[in-house]
Amino acid sequence: MADEKPEARRVTLREVARIKRGGEKLVVVTAYDVLFARIVDSCGVDIVLVGDSVGNVVAGFDSTLPVTLEQMIYHGAAVRRGVKRALLVVDMPFLSYQASVERAILNCGRVLQETGADAVKVEGGNPDMFDTVRALTRTGIPVMAHLGFTPQSVRTLGMRVQGRDAGDRERLIAEARSLEDAGAFSLVLELIPTDVARDVTSAVTIPTIGIGAGPHCDGQVLVLPDLLGLNDGFAPKFLKRYADLAGVTRDAIGRYATEVREGSYPDAEHSN
Ligand code: KIV
Repeated sequence: MADEKPEARRVTLREVARIKRGGEKLVVVTAYDVLFARIVDSCGVDIVLVGDSVGNVVAGFDSTLPVTLEQMIYHGAAVRRGVKRALLVVDMPFLSYQASVERAILNCGRVLQETGADAVKVEGGNPDMFDTVRALTRTGIPVMAHLGFTPQSVRTLGMRVQGRDAGDRERLIAEARSLEDAGAFSLVLELIPTDVARDVTSAVTIPTIGIGAGPHCDGQVLVLPDLLGLNDGFAPKFLKRYADLAGVTRDAIGRYATEVREGSYPDAEHSN
């Protein structure tokens, strides 16, 4: 519609590809609940990711491994109710897509059906994953892929920058190309050296979205509680905190507690 405001238009896969072609950066952020989903969406971000980082930042686990399919569906559906504009991607949790292509199709299909998400994200760059991504996209399920540090493999990889060893650059480029060839519409690059991320980005036509991968990716993603300064204990080098919501929250609760204890809340204005 001619008079439609640009911010009201939904971000589609086609729009994501257009943003990369136009040389603009993609803005991606995670969300796990409807309140933050509404706020994030109203800011005009391009993609909202319901990350399985929910296991770390919401549930307090030390990894994403315990997160279940049911939990991702619950959080995905909650975020869907708040996201009207951005492309919505839901992370597939550990063991929901690795055991067989058939299981991947059924579980990823369930996520699209039960959350209303636009796409799913899966981790890894082995040949089995290429087959899975190909089968998913042929089934009509858009896939965001994820290379570099893949948190579901933390027990084998360790939480450290990937791609520093001889041959890693070529391996990552080959994996990225295979994932593109299999049909992935975008690729998260996590915790890899800046120059490797730059080379992977120029080797593929799908957009790369970096986290701890330097400035040359086509977009950036951050975990929302980290970006907002809610996650006090987590301070990797790549993380920039854009607010101190932990401080703001402590201050608000401290003032509330003081007023309740001294009897100044509720006052006449806040009483019926
Ligand atoms: O789970 C998550 O939030 C992610 C992002 C860090 C990319 O996978």
